Amino acid sequence: MIELKQVTKTYFRGQGSMQMTVRAVEQVEMTIQAGEFVVITGRSGCGKTTLLNLIAGLAKPDSGKVIFEGMDIWAMKDEEISVLRNRKIGLMFQVPSLMPTLNVMDNVVLPTLFAPKETRRNAYQRGREALDAVGLSGLKEAFPRHLSAGEEKRVVIARAIVNRPPVLLADEPTANLDERTEEEVMALLQKIHAGGTTILLVTHHPGLI
Ligand SMILES: Nc1ncnc2c1ncn2[C@@H]1O[C@H](COP(=O)(O)OP(=O)(O)O)[C@@H](O)[C@H]1O
Ligand SMILES: [Mg+2]
Repeated sequence: MIELKQVTKTYFRGQGSMQMTVRAVEQVEMTIQAGEFVVITGRSGCGKTTLLNLIAGLAKPDSGKVIFEGMDIWAMKDEEISVLRNRKIGLMFQVPSLMPTLNVMDNVVLPTLFAPKETRRNAYQRGREALDAVGLSGLKEAFPRHLSAGEEKRVVIARAIVNRPPVLLADEPTANLDERTEEEVMALLQKIHAGGTTILLVTHHPGLI
């Protein structure tokens, strides 16, 4: 489903003589089969988030290829990458990313705005199903600032699955959660995986690994 071939990503920081080169991802080879549950682990700063951004088409590699279902994504046009991401990839970012001015339901259905007509038409139905799946049917009208950390994560999961993408990329989805909530989030991801979704999970939590 996803193939990385000799993928390298370098960042440059600072200016002039103070400029530093950060080789965030170096020569990564990776193959992910449809239906796998892959865990990526490693110390903070080792390049995990960069790797997910490369796979999601959010960061462009300096060299190498990212191939999604046989397509070299960096040979595609920008709009085509956006369409691919919207249809095929569910994203859970490491940083909080709910829109504070939208309620839970509107946050969840946001990705359907950019989806094909058929999906847009059923947006709220899909939103309800996604919120049911994460056990948050009762919080449709709530605003992000009123949610606990665990509830927020579950809304983020619901938003990531609302377009029913074949792949879910989850960047440290259990960071800053207590142990019990962490287990709930993991159980949810396992349920989504059991439903046929390929999952790529980044964590540095030894217990989860
Ligand atoms: N946009 C950026 N500009 C400059 N350096 C960056 C940028 N993003 C990440 N880095 C650096 O790249 C390295 C890998 O970062 P990251 O992929 O976020 O690691 P991880 O997710 O494993 O903690 C780190 O040294 C980080 O400081
Ligand atoms: Mg990270």
